[in-house]
Amino acid sequence: MIEKIGTIWPLELHTRAKHEILRYYLGAWFPILSTIHRRILYVDGFAGPGEYSKREDGSPIIALKVALDHKFKNKLTRPGMNLVFLFIEKDEARCENLKQKIAELQLPNNFRIETQCARFDEVFDSVLSKIEEQDKQLAPSFVFIDPFGPTGFPMRLISRLAQQPRSEVLITFNYQSLNEWFLQDPRKHKHLDELYGGDIWRPAQKIIDPTRKENYLMEAYQKALEDLGWKGRPFRMVNKQNQTQYYLFFATTHWEGMLAMKGAMWRASPTGDFEYSDLTNPQQPRLFDKELYDEAFSKELASLLYQSRHGQGIPKQTLIRNDVAWHSICIKRHLTRALQILEYEFVPSRITKVELPNGRKRYKGKYPDDCTITFAP
Ligand SMILES: C[S@@+](CC[C@H](N)C(=O)[O-])C[C@H]1O[C@@H](n2cnc3c(N)ncnc32)[C@H](O)[C@@H]1O
Repeated sequence: MIEKIGTIWPLELHTRAKHEILRYYLGAWFPILSTIHRRILYVDGFAGPGEYSKREDGSPIIALKVALDHKFKNKLTRPGMNLVFLFIEKDEARCENLKQKIAELQLPNNFRIETQCARFDEVFDSVLSKIEEQDKQLAPSFVFIDPFGPTGFPMRLISRLAQQPRSEVLITFNYQSLNEWFLQDPRKHKHLDELYGGDIWRPAQKIIDPTRKENYLMEAYQKALEDLGWKGRPFRMVNKQNQTQYYLFFATTHWEGMLAMKGAMWRASPTGDFEYSDLTNPQQPRLFDKELYDEAFSKELASLLYQSRHGQGIPKQTLIRNDVAWHSICIKRHLTRALQILEYEFVPSRITKVELPNGRKRYKGKYPDDCTITFAP
């Protein structure tokens, strides 16, 4: 496997898209968690040097700046609140560069930053062992695992993280390197056993069709994550040769986390297909396509809602948590449109009542978050 050369390297378009997803997600994650918890943990396990060759920010600096600039900054810096950032980077020179970049920032006292020049699996293993020995729980945590290749984050470690309540991961799953360098070479197969936590990947060796093989390996990894109790969502990154370079896998147990991540993925994916291509000019999102996709997903959601909810009166919050958050693609705006379709585009209407608390007036086509919706029988 070829690692990129040098301490710093140029920012590629798909990395920019990955950073957009991270930035948008953390903009939601920090305030959601800091509302309920007084200590939260952000881990960047393959942190990099903190910058790219034209001085663009690397992922650790992006995370710190989101927390610093965030409109909920008062919440994040309130007395008693602790934001712990653990950055791990194996390469000495990159790690030193990262430390310098962090030192350039003015950070509040309650941001606790630890930068370790070591391997992710060693450091995180020891963090989890300490917690387990003391019979304690890890603070609610988001762990970003962003390696160049498919090694260094074995499933046995991920599975220990999954046992911690309110933990979630975003993993760069390097399909291209896995397929080109690991699958073909029997000496490297032990790394795949570690990656998947078993030999579930092995049948892929016999699949000739490249798309089927890719889908098999991607779905097997998603299944391995979901067997740990998480719900997983992949986002595909395609390179200039129109081949999959990697998947970003998000896994969580929390509906709000899943909604926020799908929102981030919708933003990064111009056509709403949860895929970003270096061939797509990000300056010119294909809005027309996006609208078509939006409408198609809203119609699908409308039909699912009616099938499962007909004859019932349901608070909108319940629909968001149970029907939208875990839907593979839809986000809140699709729910609004789906409800409009059911209410106005069927004769007779498939929504018979929309009620607001305390007799508040309802405006046509609007579904405030605290409303209750009654579906026709
Ligand atoms: C893709 S880069 C990270 C980029 C960074 N997350 C960003 O978005 O700006 C992967 C980094 O992981 C480091 N690395 C490789 N193996 C590692 C390991 N086992 N533990 C920690 N860091 C590792 C590499 O030196 C490299 O800097």
